[in-house]
Amino acid sequence: MDSYDDEFRRSVEHPQDFWAEQARRLPWFTFPDTILAYDEAGHARWYPDGELNLCHAALDHQVEQGRGDQPAIHWDSPVTHSKQTLSYRQLRDRVASFAGALRELGVAKGDRVVIYMPMIPEALVAMYACARLGAVHSVVFGGFAPHELAVRIEDAAPRVVVAASCGVEVDRVLPYQPIVDAAIEQSAHKPDACVIFQREQQPAELGPRDHDWAALVDRAEPAECVPVKATDPLYVLYTSGTTGKPKGVVRDTGGYGVALHYSMEAIYDVAPGDVFFSASDVGWVVGHSYIVYAPLLRGCTSVVYEGKPVRTPDAGAFWRLIEEYRVKSFFTAPTAFRAIKKEDPDGERLAEYDISSLKALFLAGERLDPPTFHWLDDLLEVPVIDHWWQTETGWPIAANLQGLEPMPTKAGSATVPVPGFDVRILDRDGAPVGPLEQGSVVIKQPMPPGCLIGVWGDPQRFHAAYMAAFPGYYLTGDGGYFDEDGYLFIMGRTDDVINVAGHRLSTGEMEEVVGAHPAVAECAVIGIHDALKGQLPVGLVIPKDGFDGREAELEAELIALVRERIGPVACFKQVLVVDRLPKTRSGKILRKLLRNIADGKEYGIPSTIDDPASLEEIHEAMKSRDLGAAQEARQV
Ligand code: COA
Ligand code: AMP
Repeated sequence: MDSYDDEFRRSVEHPQDFWAEQARRLPWFTFPDTILAYDEAGHARWYPDGELNLCHAALDHQVEQGRGDQPAIHWDSPVTHSKQTLSYRQLRDRVASFAGALRELGVAKGDRVVIYMPMIPEALVAMYACARLGAVHSVVFGGFAPHELAVRIEDAAPRVVVAASCGVEVDRVLPYQPIVDAAIEQSAHKPDACVIFQREQQPAELGPRDHDWAALVDRAEPAECVPVKATDPLYVLYTSGTTGKPKGVVRDTGGYGVALHYSMEAIYDVAPGDVFFSASDVGWVVGHSYIVYAPLLRGCTSVVYEGKPVRTPDAGAFWRLIEEYRVKSFFTAPTAFRAIKKEDPDGERLAEYDISSLKALFLAGERLDPPTFHWLDDLLEVPVIDHWWQTETGWPIAANLQGLEPMPTKAGSATVPVPGFDVRILDRDGAPVGPLEQGSVVIKQPMPPGCLIGVWGDPQRFHAAYMAAFPGYYLTGDGGYFDEDGYLFIMGRTDDVINVAGHRLSTGEMEEVVGAHPAVAECAVIGIHDALKGQLPVGLVIPKDGFDGREAELEAELIALVRERIGPVACFKQVLVVDRLPKTRSGKILRKLLRNIADGKEYGIPSTIDDPASLEEIHEAMKSRDLGAAQEARQV
C-alpha cells in the first residue's frame, strides 16, 4: 500500500499542504492565500479567500483549453426514444443563455432556485446556469410528492422554481406541473416565477406565474460567470434525517470543486476525454457530483441516462450504453444490478455487447452485498469496486482508489479511507475500538474539502446531528469496523434512516405520516430486508379502540397516505396491524429493538446481514409471547 499510505498520511498530517496542491488543478479567479480556516463554531472552511466559479471551471475553461468540440454530455433516453450529444461549447452556450433568462427573472448571486426535473439535458443546464450566476440550486428528485417538494420550497425560499412539464417512468408519462402547483400552494413561501421546460410527451398549460423555458431563452442575453467565494454555497440538497423534516445539506463551491477533481483522478482514474457514466439521478448527491460536476471539471464526457437498468427496454440497457458511448468508468447502485440479475441471472445479455472500453465498475448508495458482488465479479473482467459515501460528504469517504493504488477487493468492504478522511471507529463512550470490533464510524475533524458546510438555515441542527455526539469527530450515522488489513466494512445505519433501492429515506418521517391518521393509536416504521431493493419500509400499527375488523381498510389507507405525502419513491407498501409494540417503562417505543428484530439480532430469528428476517418472521415475532417476555426480562 505504499503510494496510498504515503498519500493518506500526508493528507491527514499536513492537510493544508495536501489540499493546497490539489487546489492548483482548478482554474481560480483568485487563488486562495488561506487554505483552511475555522468559522466561529469551529467548523472547517476551505479556501476562504479564494474566488472561482464552478460553471466557468467545468465549461468555459474547458472550451478555452480546446475542448469546445468534445462531447460534454451524451443524453440517452430510451423512454422517449431520444438521444442528444452536446459539445462543451454547445452546453456552455445553452447554460449562458438560460443563466441570462434566470437573471431577467431577478435571480442573482445567493438567491435560491429549486429545480424539479427528470434526467434531461435541461436539468444540467439549469444547475450550471445557477452556478454561473452564483445562485444556489436545490434539486428535488422527481419521485417525491407535492408535500415533499413544498417542504423544500418553504425551507429554501427560492426566487424561481424550474421544472419540466413531465417525467417519463418506463412507459408512464407523469405530469410534473400539477405537482409543482400543488407544492407552491402548500408552501408558505411563494416563488416569484416558475420556468417550465415543455416536453412533447405532455406539454403543460402555463398559469400566471409560469414562463415558457424556450420563449425566455429566445429573448435572453447570455450571462457571464459571476466570481464567488470558495466558501459560498453552490447548492442545497435535502436528505432524509431521523425526523420528519429533511435536512438541507449545504455544499460550498471551492472545496467541492477541488475534492471532485481529486476524486476523478485518485478514485475513478479517468483523464480528460474519457467517458464517465453514472446511472443515478440529478436529484441525488451521486447525480450532482458524478453526472453533473465532476466529469466536466475533469474534461470528461458524462452520459446522462433517462431510463432504468431493466425494462427500458431490458436487462441489457447498461451494457448497450457502455458499448455505444465507449464508457471507461461506470457507477451505479447495487440495487440496479440486483434488478438486472433477476431478469438475466446468467448475464446472457452482456454477451451481446462489446464492453471492452470499461475499466472499472463502481457501486455505492448502499452496501454492496456479497452475493451481488460475487455475481458481478464472476461476470465482468474489470474490478468491481464498492465505495462508501453520503449526501453530506459529497464524495467517497472510503474506496479502492483505482488511480492511486488499486488493491485486492474483499466482498463486503468499501476498502480503505480516501485521503483526507481520517475515519475512526468509536464505542458508545467515544473510545476507539480495535480491528474487527464494530462501532460508530466517525471522521476526525477537519473533514476534507467537499463535505457539507452546514444545514440550510439551521446551524444548531448541523451541530446536533453531526458534531455533538463525539466532540472533534463528524458522526456518519453508519456502523462498521476495520479488519486487520485496514479494510473498512460499513454494516448499516445506526439511526432511523433506511435505504430503499439506493434511495435514502427516513422512517421517522413515515411514522409522522402514519401516526397522523385518525384511526392510528400508535405506530412504528422500520426497514426490513428486501432481496431486490435492499430494504423496504414496513409500518407496525396499533389501531385505536373500535377499529376491529377493518384492518385491511386501514392498511390500504395508510399506504395511500404515505404515497400521497412522501411519494412513490418511499415504496411504503406493507402495514401490519399488531396488538402491541415493545416499549420502555415510560412508554416510549423501543425503535432500536424493532430494528434489531428486523435485522434478526433479537429473539432468535435466523438471519445474517445478507439474509435478514422476512416480513412473516417479523410479524410472528411481533405477535409472539417472546417479544413481551424478552422485553420484560430486559427490564428486570
Ligand atoms: N419520478 C417519478 N416517480 C419515480 C421516479 C421519478 N424520478 N423514480 C421512481 N419513481 C417511482 C417509480 O415509478 C415507482 O412507482 P410505482 O410504485 O408506481 O411503481 C416508485 O417510485 C418506486 O421506485 P423504485 O424504488 O425506483 O422502483 P422501480 O421498480 O421503478 O426501480 C430499480 C427499481 C432498482 C431499478 C431503481 O430503483 C434503480 O435503478 N435504483 C438505483 C438508484 C440509484 O441510482 N440511486 C442513486 C445512488 S447511486
Ligand atoms: P445517501 O446520503 O443517499 O448517499 O445515503 C448515504 C447512506 O447510504 C450511508 O450513510 C450508508 O448508510 C449508505 N451507503 C452508501 N454507500 C454505501 C456503501 N458503499 N456501503 C454501505 N453503505 C452505503
